[in-house]
This record gives sequence, C-alpha cells and structure tokens, in this order.
Amino acid sequence: MSNSVTLANAKLTGVGAYLPQKIVTNDELATRIDTSDEWIRTRTGIRQRHLASEEETSVFMAKKAALAALDYAQLKPEDIDGIIVATSTPDQVFPSVAVRVQAELGMTQGFGFDLSAACSGFIFALSTANNFIKARQAERILVIGVEVFSRLLDWSDRTTCVLFGDGAGAVILEANAKKGEGLLSTKLHSDGRYGDILYVDGAAGNSDSKAKLKMNGREVFRHAVTHLADAVEEALSEQGLTGADIHWLVPHQANQRIIDGVARKLQLDANQVVVTVDRHANTSAASIPLALSEAVKDGRIKKGDLILMEALGGGLTWGSALLRF
Ligand code: ACO
Repeated sequence: MSNSVTLANAKLTGVGAYLPQKIVTNDELATRIDTSDEWIRTRTGIRQRHLASEEETSVFMAKKAALAALDYAQLKPEDIDGIIVATSTPDQVFPSVAVRVQAELGMTQGFGFDLSAACSGFIFALSTANNFIKARQAERILVIGVEVFSRLLDWSDRTTCVLFGDGAGAVILEANAKKGEGLLSTKLHSDGRYGDILYVDGAAGNSDSKAKLKMNGREVFRHAVTHLADAVEEALSEQGLTGADIHWLVPHQANQRIIDGVARKLQLDANQVVVTVDRHANTSAASIPLALSEAVKDGRIKKGDLILMEALGGGLTWGSALLRF
C-alpha cells in the first residue's frame, strides 16, 4: 500500500546513544564457550560487544540516549510530547520503558509507550512516530531503541550467544519538514508464519524457567537477504529514486554478510555503508539509532544527505525507512 505524502513529514533533529561500559571481545568469549574469534569474525563481522551490568537496565540506557539526543537537538524534556520505545527487553512487563523514561526525564506532559517488533522495532517506531506527527497528534517525539539482549541469551548456546550485544540509541522527530525533507517513506511488513525461526521461548505467565532466545540462523539469513532487498527497493521506487541517489545505508547490524548483500543490490560503495556490527554486535532495536548517531556525530552524515535504513527481525518483521537528513 502506498503512503505517498500528503501531510508534512517529520524531520530528524536529534541523535543520541549509550553503550554499556563493559566490552567483551571474541577472544574473551572463547575462554568460556567453545568458539573462536576466527569463526565469529568470518561469519558475522563481529569482533566485540558491549554487555550491560546490573545497573545498566533498559530504562537507564534509554534515558542516557534520550538525554544525549535532547542535548544534540538543544531541546529540553518539556519540549517533547511523546516517547516511543522499541524494545524486546523491557525491565518489567509494565510500566513500559517509555513511561519510566518519561518520569526519569521529569516530564509530566505527553505520552509514552513501548513497541515490540524485535530487530525491526526501530523502523516500526520511526514509522509510528512519523504518522503521529503527520496527523498533528504530536509535534516532537523521542524515538528510542534499547536492548539488553544479554539477559535473554542462552550463554551455553554458541550458535546464538556470540551474535548479540546491549545498548541504546535515540532520535528526535519534529513536525514540519520542508517538502522533500525528513522521513520520505517508511515500509513495514510482517509474516507470522515464520515465527518459529527466531523467537524467545517464554513470557511472563507461561513459563517457570527464564525465557531464552532460539534461532534457526540459516533460515533467518535466507529471509533477510530476500526481504531486505525487496523492502529497500519498495521505499526507493515509491519516491522515484534508485540506489544511485542514496548517500548512506544505515542498516540493522545483524551480520556483515547480510549488510554487504543489501549494499551490493543497491550498488553502493563500502564507504557509503555505516557499519557498527564489528564493535557492537547485534543490538536488535538499538542497532540503527546507534549507527545513525555515530555517523551524524562524526560528521559523515551531513544535512541534505539521503539515508536508507532497513531491518529484519523475529516475527518475522521487516521494513525500511528513507530519510532526507
Ligand atoms: N563457534 C564455533 N562454531 C560454531 C558456532 C560458534 N559460535 N556456532 C555454530 N558453530 C558450528 C556449528 O555447530 C556447525 O558445526 P558442524 O558443521 O560441525 O555442525 C558449524 O559451525 C556451522 O554452523 P551453521 O549454523 O551452519 O553456520 P552458518 O554458516 O549458517 O553461520 C550464522 C551461522 C552466523 C548464525 C548465520 O546463519 C547467520 O548469520 N544467520 C543470520 C542470523 C542472524 O543474523 N540473526 C540475528 C538475529 S536476526 C536479525 O537481526 C536479522
């Protein structure tokens, strides 16, 4: 379905990030589980990951990223009228991470809620916030992706535990982008028939044991390559654009081979792709805002650049977003 623009899009005015202090390299993991730096690096591109301490909860990390984004945009918490948090690892079932961040920021105005779409969560949250803003229900929304996947991992399962890391990223979306600027297009998809290739085996109320992440890596890889190629094509063609128009690909950071596959399809140079998977591993809903924040703050992404974001995750869920910065 087309979402061609009739109302003013949201523009992105702030970026921020937080990574846990503790870094664990592949070599350190290999002292505890039967794996090696060589195996992990050649199949995924991952060299290390940040892992949260007890104190580094989802709320703690989301608040840090939110404060950094507010600082970048030179805004105060009272300027914000909505918080949407994409996460699969809230600290509690409720209150949501969003309303706890709202309280931590001293906000009494506006609304907050969490959104669950696994690794695609940030794309789904961006799209939701954009539509709230276009519908004039909010002027400024903090969109946060935060995960402490380390608490969901089965640390005895070497096929999954080496792939993930913890962290948070935040952006601020504001009303009234000029024509041709801001979030030009977002595309969302899901297909629940493939829920069993990447899932967490429990939730509050249906399991006595701690819920753990399970994955059929090969199947996830297969779906990622086809769906992501289609999702980026869909976002570009709606705007009459091609890969040649893109300045930056800011992909979900699951695996270097998946990232390279999408970049090849778009005929992008390696230096047009923002990569953090080597240092952050897969931080699920946090990976895109973490990468975006890094590339904006180090000056790679400049005003007016066209940015393509894409993600696929458990559900299956997948989508893309096209942003003129
Ligand atoms: N260290 C050493 N050996 C390992 C490890 C490990 N950490 N994990 C698995 N192996 C072994 C397996 O046991 C197997 O051994 P065997 O041949 O003796 O049975 C061998 O390595 C090959 O295993 P495969 O699972 O076939 O490895 P594959 O080449 O498919 O790579 C991987 C696995 C990296 C997970 C790949 O399938 C992949 O990248 N899939 C995408 C999944 C993904 O990125 N998920 C993230 C979440 S979803 C998302 O964000 C998109």
